[in-house]
Amino acid sequence: MVSDDPKGNANCIDGRITQLVTEVLHVDPTNPGMELIARAAECLRAGGLVAFPTETVYGLGAHALDRRALQRVFAAKERPANDPLIVHVTAIDDIEPLVVEIPRVARELAARFWPGPLTMVLRRSERVPDEVTAGLETVAIRVPSHPIAQALLRCARLPIAAPSANRFSRPSPTRAAHVLADLADRIDMILDGGPTTVGLESTVVDLVRRPPMVLRPGAIDAEALRAVIPDVRLRARPVDPGTAGLPAPGMLPKHYAPATPLILFEGDRASTIDAIAQTVRLRRERGQSVAILAFRDDLEPLRALGVQLLDLGNENDPPTVASRLYAALREGDELGVDVILVRNITTDRPLSTAIQDRLRRAASPTP
Ligand code: TXA
Ligand code: MG
Repeated sequence: MVSDDPKGNANCIDGRITQLVTEVLHVDPTNPGMELIARAAECLRAGGLVAFPTETVYGLGAHALDRRALQRVFAAKERPANDPLIVHVTAIDDIEPLVVEIPRVARELAARFWPGPLTMVLRRSERVPDEVTAGLETVAIRVPSHPIAQALLRCARLPIAAPSANRFSRPSPTRAAHVLADLADRIDMILDGGPTTVGLESTVVDLVRRPPMVLRPGAIDAEALRAVIPDVRLRARPVDPGTAGLPAPGMLPKHYAPATPLILFEGDRASTIDAIAQTVRLRRERGQSVAILAFRDDLEPLRALGVQLLDLGNENDPPTVASRLYAALREGDELGVDVILVRNITTDRPLSTAIQDRLRRAASPTP
């Protein structure tokens, strides 16, 4: 299929219309074959869009200094232009051209957490295009640890801007199939390196503010950050849409959502399970079909309800829950039910804050 609309089309490079076929390359996640990586790197250098796995979620990569490539990212994702992108680099020394200065605290955080799922917001240099920063005076940067991401960055020798490779407001992709479901025929290439390990996005910390602030809870827990920046603050609540001067537009309350309405029940385990059971009965009386995203220990008590259950893993093992959450939200959608129910995670172990944050954003308000 070839597009006849060069204007808002995601597949237009330098005025040429490329074929709307997304190539999927299978890459060994532990030992990526350099021939495939070199093809992907060449595609990026030519202004193409390449989805690739990171340890958190799949990213949609583009040459971070190529305005046209960046515009294609926004078109493919249907992402609003006021939502800035994260720039990925191989190591802290690569960020020098992108920022005004590298503060000491950034070096300390990098020594501790890079490569890894931490994104730092720093003062941008003139070289960073407005398409990356959405016109802000800051730029978000991270060094991913995934061997495919690392190999791609080293081979391309470019800073790579990469938002999560989903359509805007859909759950982030943790498998190549998720990327394909959202972006097939809108991007040039997908490096399929299997499921990502962490499953939730990086922690975004703003180092321009004093004291530093976590804008998005994520794979690195605030407690771990506190060991390096004791005065770091957490953003309390998602901001209301329409608020002026959003520090992170991805922080809108409704985000990462399945298409099916998701209802989140908050409270202790016993009362939320009761409320879920009651809601199932009510909904079915109304002729509606229901699915439940359930923690492992809840499967047994919920089975009697006779609705579809999707296993989120053991609640006391947040890394497992995190790695399953987005896939489970997408599977829930595929069941074609009228409503999906889930309860909050009640442990306070690392990662639970990020899980709770994503559940709240994915859910509609409890009725
Ligand atoms: O784990 C991740 O961070 C993944 C992988 C691919 O690296 N990327 C990711 O990108 O989640 P994205 O675009 O889906 O989310 C980036 C978040 C958004 O909430 C955005 O608003 C925020 O980072 N952000 C980017 N630049 C910013 C800036 N200059 N100031 C404040 N927030 C920024
Ligand atoms: Mg995203």
